[in-house]
Amino acid sequence: MRILITGADGQLGRELQRALAGHTLVLAVWPEFDLLKSDVEKHVLAARPDAVLHAAAYTDVDGAEGEPDKAMAVNAEGTGRVARATAKVGARLVYLSTDYVFDGKKGSPYFETDQPNPINAYGRSKLEGEKRALAHCPNTLVVRTSWLYGAQGKNFVNTILRLAGERPALRVVADQRGCPTHAGDLAEALSRVLGLNLRGVAHAAGTGDCTWHELACAIVSLMGASVPVYPITTAEGGRQAPRPLYTVLGNRVLAELGITLPHWKEALTRFMREVRTVAPTEAQRR
Ligand SMILES: NC(=O)c1ccc[n+]([C@@H]2O[C@H](COP(=O)([O-])OP(=O)(O)OC[C@H]3O[C@@H](n4cnc5c(N)ncnc54)[C@H](OP(=O)(O)O)[C@@H]3O)[C@@H](O)[C@H]2O)c1
Repeated sequence: MRILITGADGQLGRELQRALAGHTLVLAVWPEFDLLKSDVEKHVLAARPDAVLHAAAYTDVDGAEGEPDKAMAVNAEGTGRVARATAKVGARLVYLSTDYVFDGKKGSPYFETDQPNPINAYGRSKLEGEKRALAHCPNTLVVRTSWLYGAQGKNFVNTILRLAGERPALRVVADQRGCPTHAGDLAEALSRVLGLNLRGVAHAAGTGDCTWHELACAIVSLMGASVPVYPITTAEGGRQAPRPLYTVLGNRVLAELGITLPHWKEALTRFMREVRTVAPTEAQRR
């Protein structure tokens, strides 16, 4: 299969390159490939893909709150460009979306049939991206994931790994609950999804759930570090963008097809073994 990966040098994009190595891959990387530019179509047509894995996005949740127009332009208008071009070339589209399309008020796992209601600019832009993907490309699957981390990239796990070695104590939000997802595990699941004729919306997050505080405690414990991790509230965390408090995803559609992602604790344990055996990433050094 010829597969075009957008955002190929992002944390998921790099894992997709690994998981899909048996296919012919065309990598779309900013700034040559820019979702804000009208030549997106030219790139997609030139790639002659059978499938487009659209992982490129404006992903800075707090940044999006300060520049919502840019987030919307990249995540919604840019996705519209990708979707129209994918339809034109007759390929299928897999659009990566987020648990932050939900408002967090449900209190039990969100399934694919639940109504989105984003409470921040990033979530609104990604939801609009979902709508445009589904509207402009008939053969589209929206895959919502959450709390993503990989060896390369700015993510919560790499941040805790670094801070645990630098600070005498950590203060971590304990009132947001979600599903940590290993980018490599998601990439493996997406490689299986590509072999199925699936359209619509599917959730794909690590099994099990926790709070950011529980996740930080697990990381520190697996590091063998003794730094104390104090729980704080979202309000005390003082981030620019509001955060939904509960975004556990129920992966019902994929589970019915026999595709499940490993439990977050198992995935984290494996990840920690991996980072110990390779040189520290740029993100961990910073
Ligand atoms: N990270 C999470 O926790 C999370 C959770 C749920 C869903 N998701 C979704 O999963 C997907 C992959 O996320 P990720 O964590 O791999 O994100 P990431 O590491 O930030 O990668 C996103 C990629 O998109 C590129 N990009 C940004 N603006 C662009 C533009 N205007 N044109 C073309 N490319 C552009 C980035 O390039 P630069 O690095 O050069 O800016 C980066 O390579 C995204 O769609 C995201 O919304 C992520």
